[in-house]
Amino acid sequence: MSQAGVTARLIDDRIALAWGDGSNAVFPAIWLRDNCRCPKCRHASGQRLFEITDLPVDLQVGKVEVTGDRLLVTWAPDGHASSFALDWLQAHDLNPLQRAARYEKPVLWGADLKATLPVADWQKLRQDPALELAWHDDFAAYGFGVLRNVPREDGQVEVVGNHLGFVRVTNYGSRFDVFSVPNPNNLAFTAVGLGVHSDNPYRDPTPGVQLLHCLESDAPGGDTLLVDGFHAAAILRREDPAAFELLCKLPFNFRFRDAKADLQARVPLIKTDVDGHVTEVHFNNRSADLLDAPVELVAPWYAAYRKLAEILKRPELELIFRLGPGDLVVMMNERALHGRTAFDPSKGRRHLQGCYIDKDGIESRRRILRRQLRQHEEVAA
Ligand code: OGA
Ligand code: ZN
Ligand code: ZN
Repeated sequence: MSQAGVTARLIDDRIALAWGDGSNAVFPAIWLRDNCRCPKCRHASGQRLFEITDLPVDLQVGKVEVTGDRLLVTWAPDGHASSFALDWLQAHDLNPLQRAARYEKPVLWGADLKATLPVADWQKLRQDPALELAWHDDFAAYGFGVLRNVPREDGQVEVVGNHLGFVRVTNYGSRFDVFSVPNPNNLAFTAVGLGVHSDNPYRDPTPGVQLLHCLESDAPGGDTLLVDGFHAAAILRREDPAAFELLCKLPFNFRFRDAKADLQARVPLIKTDVDGHVTEVHFNNRSADLLDAPVELVAPWYAAYRKLAEILKRPELELIFRLGPGDLVVMMNERALHGRTAFDPSKGRRHLQGCYIDKDGIESRRRILRRQLRQHEEVAA
């Protein structure tokens, strides 16, 4: 940004900056004051030293000016002085266009993605931060990624999980085996096909990321299905906005019970953020419990639920591929819904191992790689 020609003006309780290229940004006084980076306000670690209740309740801008590449503000009535880098202000511009530009738009996909799966070699990726970052960038865009060449050994799924984030221990342990067993507590541990789903919507919080590592896949069938839940939600929103709203609004109960656990969570099938972007899709027929909602909303909710389920079955949305031994798929659990076709355990073995990590861990890993590679450096305040 050229700093020349930037001007600041006070309009009521907001400071308006004209960038000099015709565009403007508006920062509410309280927002600026809360973001003061002076040594009285922030510890060297970057952590805030004051509480919101410490700020003058009648806070006002005393004086404001642009000097060089900084915005200087003197506050009334306490006389506190703040200084903000113009670059930092521009990077955090609250104007709708700038906020929209900062939103990392998911790339919606379907069956066609088969030709260009986001994939990397695990042995190379773990030695090469640039390759790993490129894989994370794809993971963020598509909501899943494949790693090949992961050693076909027990527990390697946790090694990968702990590289990308932190493995979460649940009632299934720190990892679980997926193969057909007698008297299973979950349909996943049989040979039947599984419709696409998010795992464990009965947990609060729901696992953010799931890893599945293929150790053996000799049995005929057992192909992996992936459907982009964000894409399905976008289609529902376009084709039936009222149905979309209802699925966002009403929480649904999910439940899992066996001898040792009774897990229940209540969550809407679709979650959006304050800007209306879809952030989570929860869908799992096996652990769907019941709808506890005002009676007049029940039939419309079921119609909406059915519609979403139908969209999830559209062939153009269904990405089908086969995990071979040593392949590992990492999925944003509340976006890339997964399933499998049925397999025949009498004709060969099929064995996967899975684990969960949280979203914050894998997102942190990506930021650390960016920092190491000096990409997207955060602008200092
Ligand atoms: C599961 C699951 C998929 C597979 O265990 O939750 O979805 O390919 N398994 O077996
Ligand atoms: Zn300060
Ligand atoms: Zn699953």
